[in-house]
Amino acid sequence: QITLLDLVAQDTKRDPFTFYERLRVEAPLIRVSGLLGRENTWLVTNYDDAIAILKDPRFFKDLQKFSNVQPESTSDMTVRNLTTWRRDMLTVDPPDHTRLRGLVSQAFTPRMIEHLRPRVQQITDELLDAVEGCGEMDLIAEFAYPLPITVISELLGIPTEDRQGFRAWTQALLAASSGVTQQDEAKRTEALQTFIDYISALLARKREHPEEDLISGMLQARDQNDALSERELVSTIFLLIVAGHETTVNLIGNGMLALLTHPEQREKLQRNPELLSSAIEELLRFTAPVSISTLRWASEDVTLHGQIIRKGELVLTSLIGANYDAVHFHHPQQLDIEREENKHIAFGKGIHFCLGAPLARMEGQVAIGTLLRRLPHLRLIDDESHLNWTPTPILRGLVSLPVAY
Ligand code: HEM
Repeated sequence: QITLLDLVAQDTKRDPFTFYERLRVEAPLIRVSGLLGRENTWLVTNYDDAIAILKDPRFFKDLQKFSNVQPESTSDMTVRNLTTWRRDMLTVDPPDHTRLRGLVSQAFTPRMIEHLRPRVQQITDELLDAVEGCGEMDLIAEFAYPLPITVISELLGIPTEDRQGFRAWTQALLAASSGVTQQDEAKRTEALQTFIDYISALLARKREHPEEDLISGMLQARDQNDALSERELVSTIFLLIVAGHETTVNLIGNGMLALLTHPEQREKLQRNPELLSSAIEELLRFTAPVSISTLRWASEDVTLHGQIIRKGELVLTSLIGANYDAVHFHHPQQLDIEREENKHIAFGKGIHFCLGAPLARMEGQVAIGTLLRRLPHLRLIDDESHLNWTPTPILRGLVSLPVAY
């Protein structure tokens, strides 16, 4: 058994390879205590099991469908909070999942996303124009964070001036998602409430003044066709805002750190920009912007590696563990921007496969490609060992990344 603290420890974040290599060998299915305030959650750490679980309908998302599956206790507030109000594609099963994903999936196809590339390039260039003369910046605060939040906000139709609060709210949500103390829990609930209130107010404004954007499109589906409930609408907007930026921040931040600490790979990419798309796939595998999948519940007893995952127990899969599995990746601990047969599962697998994958890939290509081209002598200011990682179990991202150029 391991604890939540093992998953969020700075050493684990800094060197996930060593941590997950040991688990895969010694305990491919292991119990984690302390996650979401629960005594036991199962964690799967190898590639084949991760894929099997992500594709297995016996592991479901929607707690409410099964009245016999309840939060462990009344103090199990995190699970309760998560499940009492969220109602979006990532927290339900078919047929609701199919319906809710279908309502927005058109906006995220590779073709639609390709149309956004010139605008993403423009935002990227403007961000770099602003810092180019400074010689130093925090790559997270001044570049990796504002880029995806601007892109997803424009897509959804969120006014520029409203975006200021998002970082504080999502940070509070994520920091507290470990649910270590009652205080964390209180902060989380408060942040969640502020976020929901904001979305409700935004919807009221959009109802008055509809525009050409995704939120107005969803409002139309709600008000004219009754295609989703009000709660599903609010929850879906919440999901798109949170999933649409925190994850991509990590791809850009972790990806640049990996290149800066592997100078031969970075130089190869600078000499051969046509490798960009393959490099982004390798950075997704190697740096794990999302390192663990979201929760799934066992709808019946399932035996794995001689242990029984009991009906009603929670299961997580380690995407980073899977992506470092030597059974499927040659020399997994090496960063190889030309890796062949790179079947990483950084975007998950099965019906909940990341809806935003084409957007994340395109943003990663534009951001990292432009940084390498415009700031060719970018270097770390601090030693890698001094960098701080956010202590959240599911995402892997840097608090800040000071660089000079
Ligand atoms: C789902 C990763 C960017 C929207 C997921 C899942 C993963 C993931 C692993 C599946 C979780 C599970 O099955 O438990 C990533 C990574 C990203 C990224 C690594 C960036 C590098 C984005 C962006 C959006 C987005 C930019 C934009 C809207 C979603 C949505 C789902 C999802 C809506 C739920 C899909 C469903 O339940 O059918 N993502 N994501 N993601 N992601 Fe992403």
